[in-house]
Amino acid sequence: MKSLFNLSNLSVDEINSILNRAQEFSDGATSDIAKGKIIASLFFEPSTRTQNSYSIAVMRLGGQVITFNSETSSMKKGETFYDTVKTFEALGCDAAIIRHSENEYYKQLKNIKMPILSGGDGIGNHPTQSLLDLLTIRQEFGSFDGLKICIVGDVLHSRVAHTNIDVMKRLNMDVYTSGPQEFKEEGSNYIDFHKTVKEMDIIMLLRIQHERLSSEMIMDKEGYNQKFGLNKSVLSLMKEKSIIMHPAPFNRGVEIDDECVECEKSRIFKQMSNGVFVRMAVLERALKN
Ligand code: CP
Repeated sequence: MKSLFNLSNLSVDEINSILNRAQEFSDGATSDIAKGKIIASLFFEPSTRTQNSYSIAVMRLGGQVITFNSETSSMKKGETFYDTVKTFEALGCDAAIIRHSENEYYKQLKNIKMPILSGGDGIGNHPTQSLLDLLTIRQEFGSFDGLKICIVGDVLHSRVAHTNIDVMKRLNMDVYTSGPQEFKEEGSNYIDFHKTVKEMDIIMLLRIQHERLSSEMIMDKEGYNQKFGLNKSVLSLMKEKSIIMHPAPFNRGVEIDDECVECEKSRIFKQMSNGVFVRMAVLERALKN
């Protein structure tokens, strides 16, 4: 059983092996490993990309998805998270995909026997987002060694940033962060975004995670856009071969201006497409044997 909760448990070789298989799917490889299997999709937080690209990945592998809605479920009658997941196992599901607002929610699920694939846990980890980011970077640059990336925005509350900072350092990338002081993470190589943008190979923008803030952000949206937003004038400073990434959803006019979203350097929608291939690879890995 090969569950996936974070990337820190995987060796660099295992990460590269998942990326290689995802690249094969991107190049047209097929598999029917999920034929006859039913995968439960349990999202306790909103999602457009992760939930639906996992579902498409299951379908592309020949399987079927059952989607759970906590708002209309028996959790409203007091059923616990563990008992909900255990129920799907008892119903005969072959694996579960879970997103939950609690960090390391999976520690409660040690007695669950079916593989579990994370769709993100609180501000902890978002392993398949990182894998699709890595696939996009590798397709662009051919390798990771020595690439300079600046992750800009609400680093403190971003599970994407947390997973990426850790795995990208392991892959010998130079990882920097920037954003408002209130979202600065200690020890995360903080730099001045606009002053250093010309040195970066990759600018990865993040949205402000308003749903995780205990009080209103100090800086207003206009101030944020001026200091940390990507607009045409900042875009013009970027290196010739550099790219723009964003895990999305993005807020136009805050961290990224309209004219940059689909500009020539943007790989934002490429990242989303790669999400299906990466999720096919991790599902195949989970369903083998
Ligand atoms: N990037 C990402 O996780 O998007 P969703 O919240 O739409 O799944």
